[in-house]
Amino acid sequence: MADTTMDKLVSLCKRRGFIFQSSEIYGGLSGAWDYGPLGVQLKNNIRDFWWKEMTQMHDNIVGLDASILMHPRVWEASGHVSNFTDPMVDCKQCKSRFRSDQIDLGAACPNCGTKGSFTEPRNFNLMFSTHIGPVHDDGSVVYLRPETAQGIYVDFKNVVQSSRVKVPFGIAQVGKSFRNEITTKNFIFRSCEFEQMEMQYFCKPGSDEQWFSFWRDQRMAFYHKMGIKPESLRWHRHGEDELAFYAKDAYDIQFLFPMGWQELEGVHNRTDYDLGQHQKFSGKDLSYLEQETNERYLPYVVETSAGLTRNVLMALSDAYEEQELEGGDVRTVLHFHPAIAPVTVAVLPLVKKDGIGEFAEHLEHELREDFATFYDQSGAIGRRYRRMDEIGTPYCVTVDYQTLEDKTVTLRFRDSMEQVRVPIADLVSRMRSETRQYTRA
Ligand code: GAP
Repeated sequence: MADTTMDKLVSLCKRRGFIFQSSEIYGGLSGAWDYGPLGVQLKNNIRDFWWKEMTQMHDNIVGLDASILMHPRVWEASGHVSNFTDPMVDCKQCKSRFRSDQIDLGAACPNCGTKGSFTEPRNFNLMFSTHIGPVHDDGSVVYLRPETAQGIYVDFKNVVQSSRVKVPFGIAQVGKSFRNEITTKNFIFRSCEFEQMEMQYFCKPGSDEQWFSFWRDQRMAFYHKMGIKPESLRWHRHGEDELAFYAKDAYDIQFLFPMGWQELEGVHNRTDYDLGQHQKFSGKDLSYLEQETNERYLPYVVETSAGLTRNVLMALSDAYEEQELEGGDVRTVLHFHPAIAPVTVAVLPLVKKDGIGEFAEHLEHELREDFATFYDQSGAIGRRYRRMDEIGTPYCVTVDYQTLEDKTVTLRFRDSMEQVRVPIADLVSRMRSETRQYTRA
């Protein structure tokens, strides 16, 4: 059943232009994905929803967009050069590589079936490296960042000095990260190139546990606000053996993906580990002077770290439904929250003739100012509604003969399929208020 849902999602995503395999015409590149016209809009909407919640809705969180390529010493200081590894084994027969903690080393090779052919486990660093400048030697090695967080720590002093922020405060960032993942199955869940939405909250040592608890509550509330089914979300606290090398305590928000419960976001208490390491490796003082008390200290960090591309998979999985209608007809519908739906409103003329098509087109142009719109005049109206349901469009506006007389339209709601007659003059405010009050049926 789970596989069926994932297969159906993959197929819908390709068919309707959400997500394509990278370089497909060349046979594809594993671990890399392209976001098509609807996919990029969905991804941008989730990003904007997060950005607004994390920056605009808090008066002490500022934004940053650090570069992907950073000084190689950053990754020595952060611990990634020595610690960001997975234990790997190779099959001596077919040379396939596996994570040693994900296979039974006493069993046959999952690829070629040879028994007892594995090498001893070796640590394999997940960072991609490349070279900067014209000379490819050890001195020119740089890494593609495996997390966005380090850009924030490295710019901590710049932000404090330029933004008049006071501890406790946060720095938020969204951007690409790269990991040389060996196991990349499950569609976009784990890819080599992905996007993260991270926020580092700098607080006074001793207040970290209180902020750690505060941010856990905030982050779960965020997903509820995004309209994700609460029963598909849960917490998982890391045991001693799971904690990342930088973390004092860590909780994951897990989501019930088609393949089971998996991590969606991590909330970590990173203490003063990162600022301490960068202070040591750079030789620069990164301490903070609290003016009220004249105390100087290295702030502790509570991190909220979500995968943006993994959020896209969550939104798609959570929204997907096949509904059996009366008469045995099945409709496929994506129940996206209207705030993240790639298209908010479709404008559909009931017929093209007698000026109705032109009227509808004009209306669609007017609505563009406020919403992501789509105009569709081809095919039976029922079929056009279904096409919009399948891409998760929450509102459809139908223009008909009555519209020309009394300037009203039919407003149809995706989830309930209910239709109401609304004056065009009230359309924008009605859809805005429906979006604000939206709850998943
Ligand atoms: N700065 C902390 C950090 O990066 P992480 O648990 O390694 O922590 C945080 O990653 C989030 O980034 C994960 O919860 C997941 O949503 C996303 N993520 C990590 N690796 C990923 C990958 N290979 N593909 C897609 N998303 C990934």
